[in-house]
Amino acid sequence: MKSRLVRAVLLILLVLFVGGAGLAGWLALAPGATDFIAGEPPIPLASYGGAPPTGMPRELAGASLVQKGEYLALAADCKACHTVPGGTAFAGGRAFTLPFGTLYTPNITPDKATGIGAWSDADFLRAVHRGIGRDGQRLYPAFPYGSYALLTDDDVLAIKAYLFSLAPVHREARPNTFAFPFNQRWTMAFWSAMFVPGSRFEPVARQSAQWNRGAYLVEAAAHCGECHTPRNIAFAMDTRRKFAGGQAEGWNAYNITADPDTGIGAWTADQLAGYLSSPHGSAAGIASGPMAEAVELSLSRLAPSDIQAMVAYLRTVSAIRDATLPKAAGPASESAQAGAPDHPIGKRIFEGACASCHAWNGAGALVTQATLTGKRAVNDPSAMNVVKVVLAGSTDAGSDRPAMPGFAGSLSDAEVAEVANYVTERFGAAPSRVTGRDVEKLRAD
Ligand code: HEC
Ligand code: HEC
Ligand code: HEC
Repeated sequence: MKSRLVRAVLLILLVLFVGGAGLAGWLALAPGATDFIAGEPPIPLASYGGAPPTGMPRELAGASLVQKGEYLALAADCKACHTVPGGTAFAGGRAFTLPFGTLYTPNITPDKATGIGAWSDADFLRAVHRGIGRDGQRLYPAFPYGSYALLTDDDVLAIKAYLFSLAPVHREARPNTFAFPFNQRWTMAFWSAMFVPGSRFEPVARQSAQWNRGAYLVEAAAHCGECHTPRNIAFAMDTRRKFAGGQAEGWNAYNITADPDTGIGAWTADQLAGYLSSPHGSAAGIASGPMAEAVELSLSRLAPSDIQAMVAYLRTVSAIRDATLPKAAGPASESAQAGAPDHPIGKRIFEGACASCHAWNGAGALVTQATLTGKRAVNDPSAMNVVKVVLAGSTDAGSDRPAMPGFAGSLSDAEVAEVANYVTERFGAAPSRVTGRDVEKLRAD
């Protein structure tokens, strides 16, 4: 009897162990950055014969080391995270609200006491490639070192040279508010072992130099996948569903694969280039929220050849359908009376607060940027981004065209929910059912 029990327990443990190891193996063996190009394994950078995909774009080939570092830091958007809105660049302090607490970015100016002024090249490489801090502590992957691991040593050290050329700022780092067990930094060693690439970017020999440059920028520097790739159960990028849609700061970062209905397969190359390179967006869309930040602070400052390279690369990423999204709806009726009868309160708010800029048919009055027809946000049945845009507004800091005002101060949670449900029903293909509670949560994010 007893021995049978022992055998049963041992069997269960074995199943758990094999199952756990199997799951860990399955997670860790996820495809690498460019493995979607079937039958063409990447090769070491040193054996690549074409124009180098790393370093500077050809327009800026003669740049100094510091200029090179400045450009690459822009492409990697280091400043966005390491600066509080309105604060001193790179002095840290920006808060990241995660499910288990708040994490603040450290000071990466060359101050010896509170920044990275005393760091060696090896210290800096270890942090950016492997997520290990100067005194050996593990860093949380809110710092996207899982992507930066692909940056070459030369490029990371150019970024260091640039950071060290700046004025040191004395500003203590703020400790995170994580509770046990999330405050155990050492646990990140396992995460890193499974999910952080151990080697630098490797080009694909048969692809063009432009494609490989695009791959390097998209995967290593601009870390698009950190927002656009869904996460697996260990919160790492699920690269089996590369670019099929993720989340960032309470926003949906939509599918950017070539799927024509739920991704960006129907966008022309020019539309995609326009979206990435201009805060004014393109006919296909306007970037708001975290994407607006990526465009304004980083992508719009890159050389035209680098935007073209990213577009060329992005358009080859395998199409994946997002089963939660419908194909976008066409224009709505011009008549205020038609459609969306379920939301009389939402309709009244739209009439008073929105219709003058967006028009009843969604074609946008005053400026083309206010077009709602065909936009992903209004065709997303979660309506997350509609809620976020209505709360926060959306604009291009550098322009004087009419902007989308934020209504966080003037509409209640219930009213935002009503107008969001009205907007998705009137202009989208799959109406949302957002509640005031949902809006309350998104407001807090
Ligand atoms: C998406 C936000 C984000 C971006 C982009 C980002 N970082 Fe960070 N970085 C963080 C966070 C958050 C931490 C702190 C992690 C922790 O405390 O575990 C961090 C930590 C660091 C550290 C460790 C500093 C210390 O005192 O331990 C260095 C160095 C660093 N980042 C450099 C960079 C560089 C260089 C870039 C651009 C190539 C960059 N970061 C881009 C969020 C970001
Ligand atoms: C910090 C997170 C973040 C990063 C990094 C990021 N994105 Fe986005 N992206 C978003 C969010 C959020 C949206 C939705 C914005 C909106 O609804 O206005 C978005 C929207 C988009 C869209 C429009 C999709 C649609 O259907 O309307 C494209 C295209 C896009 N991103 C491409 C990229 C590319 C290419 C990169 C890397 C060069 C990138 N993004 C990096 C968060 C991010
Ligand atoms: C003063 C003009 C104005 C008003 C009023 C206004 N909007 Fe907007 N809205 C815009 C503009 C312009 C944009 C494009 C955003 C940008 O330029 O970054 C926009 C963008 C949007 C988007 C995102 C579209 C996309 O491309 O993803 C949604 C959704 C939206 N507005 C809904 C509303 C709702 C709902 C209201 C009323 C509560 C409203 N707007 C009021 C001008 C306005």
